Amino acid sequence: MVDLKIAIIPGDGIGVEVTAAAWEVSLAAAAACDVNLAATAFPWSCDHYLETGAMMPADGIETLRDFDAILLGAIGWPAKVTDDISLHELLLRIRKEFDLYANVRPHKLLPGVTGPLRAENIDILCIRENTEGEYSGAGGRVHRGTAEEIAVETSVFTRHGVERILRYGFEMARKRRKQLASVTKSNAQRHSMVFWDDVTRQLSAEYPDVEVRSYHVDAIAARMIMFPETLDVVVASNLFGDILSDIGAAIQGGLGFAASANIDPIGRSPSMFEPVHGSAPDIAGKDVANPIAAISSAVMMFEHLGHTELATTMSDAVARVCARGIGGRSSGSSCGTRRITDEILLEITR
Ligand code: IPM
Ligand code: MN
Repeated sequence: MVDLKIAIIPGDGIGVEVTAAAWEVSLAAAAACDVNLAATAFPWSCDHYLETGAMMPADGIETLRDFDAILLGAIGWPAKVTDDISLHELLLRIRKEFDLYANVRPHKLLPGVTGPLRAENIDILCIRENTEGEYSGAGGRVHRGTAEEIAVETSVFTRHGVERILRYGFEMARKRRKQLASVTKSNAQRHSMVFWDDVTRQLSAEYPDVEVRSYHVDAIAARMIMFPETLDVVVASNLFGDILSDIGAAIQGGLGFAASANIDPIGRSPSMFEPVHGSAPDIAGKDVANPIAAISSAVMMFEHLGHTELATTMSDAVARVCARGIGGRSSGSSCGTRRITDEILLEITR
């Protein structure tokens, strides 16, 4: 009997190597925990586009709907297909069509991993709005190539969208250290961002146990570097959350450690789990990519699916390997994808 049906989309570049590693580790841990996993891999990628003219088949979304979750590597290889096509037709399309509105990105310094900062107690949960805002896709470009050329890109903030992501942030804060940082740029953007601040204030009345502070995005960017230990849950719009989660990744030791979950908190669609990093074509196929971000994304997947023992088996193994200093190049180790994966597998089967 199959317990979980997972769709795997390795995608492009290092996405292929890190999802292979994440799945190998998942299978080993599942065997140890008596969980029966079934995977179907989909070759949807820039190469697939070159072969078929599409990043995924017309019924791709319907196909994915049958799975419990999606594990994705990374999408994009600009020398093959421009990013505006590859990302909008696959990654961003899945996020939007499945309405995976909460993009959850934990930034925690694992034991043994030395980040670039002196701070040792970094444990920030970045919650990024994942379906609208600056990524709405609304806009256009006219008079191409002429001196009169105009490009317009409209941010869209709806009460429905803003309220549900803030509520998710409040709920997460409630489960953690009860501090919520709500991020805007309302001193410059006086419509959408003032609206976001207003909704934050309105909701805060429902969460008196959560201490909420509003920050401007520039100020919190600096705070994440100067005083990261003062931050608990950070909730931000699509673009601001994207940028802040790269800072988060940097301060947790590098993109090789940063996991993420694209969640449908209501459970209507399969949620999707992917490392924060991209496809990194320059290092693809060289066995240098750190698989920990992808493995930790699989951990988030099993947690989300309620398989806590499986998730903990994997995260404990990752923590033990990191504690031994085998954590990937960005944190000073010289170990590559294969070696790190093997060490984690050994911890699980030991
Ligand atoms: C991320 C990535 C994507 C994003 C890109 C590849 C479109 O940077 O998941 O953070 O901006 O959402
Ligand atoms: Mn990003």
